[in-house]
Amino acid sequence: MKTELFTGDSREIMPQHGPYDMILADPPYGDTSLAWDRRVDGWLEGALAALKPTGSMWVFGSMRFFMATGAIFAAAGWRYAQDIVWEKHNGSAFHADRFKRVHEHVVQFYPNDAKWSDVYNDVQTTPDAAPRVTRRKRRPTHTGNIEKSEYISEDGGPRLMRSVIYMRSAHGRAIHPTEKPVALLEILARTSCPKGGLLGDWFAGSAAAGDACGITDRNYIGCEIDADMANLARARLQSTLFAAGQ
Ligand SMILES: C[S@@+](CC[C@H](N)C(=O)[O-])C[C@H]1O[C@@H](n2cnc3c(N)ncnc32)[C@H](O)[C@@H]1O
Repeated sequence: MKTELFTGDSREIMPQHGPYDMILADPPYGDTSLAWDRRVDGWLEGALAALKPTGSMWVFGSMRFFMATGAIFAAAGWRYAQDIVWEKHNGSAFHADRFKRVHEHVVQFYPNDAKWSDVYNDVQTTPDAAPRVTRRKRRPTHTGNIEKSEYISEDGGPRLMRSVIYMRSAHGRAIHPTEKPVALLEILARTSCPKGGLLGDWFAGSAAAGDACGITDRNYIGCEIDADMANLARARLQSTLFAAGQ
């Protein structure tokens, strides 16, 4: 499998290396006044053009981020598909008079001119079904205008993965302040990038997604603008992929 991490601005570098089966974007959310937390403009058009016709993009962000940028995604040609909530074991408490935030959102977008049924989407399952019954899940009547969809959940068999996913953050062993858990990135890669396909990581940070690709047999190209972080990320990829025999 190919694993490559570029140092530089993803707006210039990443579109040259596609087309991608899946794009992962974990940009600075712009929620705080910290120097590194500045929203990045002008990357959505290049990402759209670098995607395969069957591709989609998963974007990490806070609710504040998506409320501020939703119209920008739409104007750049992206359509909302679904979102998941990553529930973490720790969180941020920016304000003592609000809830401590222990979750982040990950939203999947696909091109406005694509058909959802053409988008690669291998919904993941969990093997933890317990009831001794067979259930046929059908759309409830109030979702009548959504395309037909049905699945069967059997005793002990697989269940569709839930949209709220609990996973410990990488806090304590991370090399990046906002590093995402590899196991969560694995789920996204398995769902939206075919085996042997190419995942493009627009804001690579620690390149945790590179590890996820190594584990799941996907090719990986990432880009990180901070040269020191990019070096750390490359060292991480070398050690983890070497350990995995790749
Ligand atoms: C939220 S962090 C990504 C963390 C990463 N997902 C991980 O698991 O480690 C965002 C990263 O994007 C980088 N960045 C910001 N602007 C960029 C740009 N134009 N091109 C490439 N990387 C950029 C920042 O330096 C930062 O490391």
